[in-house]
Amino acid sequence: MQLPHRAPALPPSEVPSKSKVVWEKFSHHSKFQRKLYHFGTFPQDFSWGVSSSAYQIEGGWDADGKGPSIWDVFTQTPGNTPADATGDVACDSYNRLDEDLYMLRALRVKSYRFSLSWSRIFPDGTRSSMNQKGVDYYNRLINGLLANKITPMVTIYHWDLPQALQDRGGWENVDMIDIFNDYCDFCFATFGDRVKLWMTINQPHSIAWLGYGLGTIPPSIKNPGISPYIVAHNLIKAHAKAYHTYDDKYRTSQGGLVSIALNADWIEPKDVNVLREVRAADRALQFQLGWFAHPIFKNGDYPDAMKWQVGNKSELQDLSESRLPSFTEEEKNYIKGTADMFCINHYTTKIASHVTGQLSPYSYEQDRDLSETEESDSPTTDIKNQRAVAWGLRRLLNWIKEEYGNPQIYIAENGVATKSSTMWDDSTRVFYYKTYIDEALKAYELDGVRVNGYIATSLMDSFEWLNGYKVGFGLHHVDFSNTNRPRTPKYSAHFYYYVIKDNGFPRPDDEKMLYGHFRKDFLWSTATASYQVLMLLCYKCFLMAPPIILMRLDSTTITD
Ligand code: BGC
Repeated sequence: MQLPHRAPALPPSEVPSKSKVVWEKFSHHSKFQRKLYHFGTFPQDFSWGVSSSAYQIEGGWDADGKGPSIWDVFTQTPGNTPADATGDVACDSYNRLDEDLYMLRALRVKSYRFSLSWSRIFPDGTRSSMNQKGVDYYNRLINGLLANKITPMVTIYHWDLPQALQDRGGWENVDMIDIFNDYCDFCFATFGDRVKLWMTINQPHSIAWLGYGLGTIPPSIKNPGISPYIVAHNLIKAHAKAYHTYDDKYRTSQGGLVSIALNADWIEPKDVNVLREVRAADRALQFQLGWFAHPIFKNGDYPDAMKWQVGNKSELQDLSESRLPSFTEEEKNYIKGTADMFCINHYTTKIASHVTGQLSPYSYEQDRDLSETEESDSPTTDIKNQRAVAWGLRRLLNWIKEEYGNPQIYIAENGVATKSSTMWDDSTRVFYYKTYIDEALKAYELDGVRVNGYIATSLMDSFEWLNGYKVGFGLHHVDFSNTNRPRTPKYSAHFYYYVIKDNGFPRPDDEKMLYGHFRKDFLWSTATASYQVLMLLCYKCFLMAPPIILMRLDSTTITD
């Protein structure tokens, strides 16, 4: 059977050469080499930030006219979260703005990434229900940040869809494109005089797959082979429409930047010498990141690997058309190029290998023809399946560089969970940040990736979605048993403060190579004393060693 507009005529038999470069270049690194420490600093205007999101911190779930979101409804239904945790109060940030600003000021961050609660601004999701008190809260927050010289980075929608819109079908309803656009339009008009960095949607992949495929997060729809594709299609179009609204109505007067926060694990093939496995790793990335990034950053359309896989499976399933919807030419032109920078949320690395997926039941997961496992050499963390694999970040950043034509990149979320009982001694988090930020530095300094900013997740322990309050990602501990929700800096807050102050990891004085000149009449060629001969040898090693080895040689010779 011939399927119209579905799969490319031929299977993508090769990994696109540009992204393949990343596995060719890095996968042969030894375990030692990939863990080497690199000294250096980021560019002067590097944007150091921390993040939060509305539902995770604000509380005040029905304060001052706020409408319920799908997360309110979900968590208020017993049995959905550990110990029936809700975001009803969370960190109580709705009432504790000054405390949040105090922490941000103390950290000396340059930017704060937070999200707007849609149903606080529009209780029923639409403009006619506008709630001025909700708007006032965000005005106070934005003004407070600016007064402290902290740049607001605003996520317009971070998962907490107004329940009223879910009642109209949520993201499966194509009307959501216009509804979302009108909400964004309002946000640009209301806050855009002061907000210059926007992210329309946080992790559309999680919304589509976890919300409508697996159904583990609200709206808890379990339709793994159909709904995620429809939802993603609408999310992409909604994002593109909001981007054009900014372009058409606000860019000239406001001069800001608009993007979308995508998420990706790094994927390493099980065996880098086997093409089939490298292709599986590439497919995993295309299905996760490329699903959204390919249309937005490349050509307005889904990756070939996705079109081929889903089209092919649909054909084998005797369907009359692919479960992956297609864009018209006009839509492709409209979607292509609708982001001013690449915002990436990243936490961990997985290993992929080729496995032929099942045909029944229909499933996005099975469409990929691969399986993923943990990177077993790396330390586990307090969240299952999230090992700390710092070197994966450097590879992911390089892959983005190659695949999407060297865009400017913000690492929009990166962090690690620790048990919520961890009051301040979070040395695992310090290690995580130290090694992950160092990999971002390598990507910037050694590989020429245009890394513009780094946002640590998160400012403070908060409601961690399906993990409730069992774990926290915070640089600050929050005592959720105390009505005042006291915030206490952990070790990692102090550590991050110094990273920001130093703008990275400058080489400490006692680690520095000694540069200088010998006397003009120094007898290089005729010196015979053993000490002098050794010096000459060392100097030659220095000239010939690649920079990364050099760092190591340098520090080992000095410290060992
Ligand atoms: C979400 C954050 C969350 C983090 C850790 C990310 O996927 O965007 O809101 O805090 O995961 O759970």
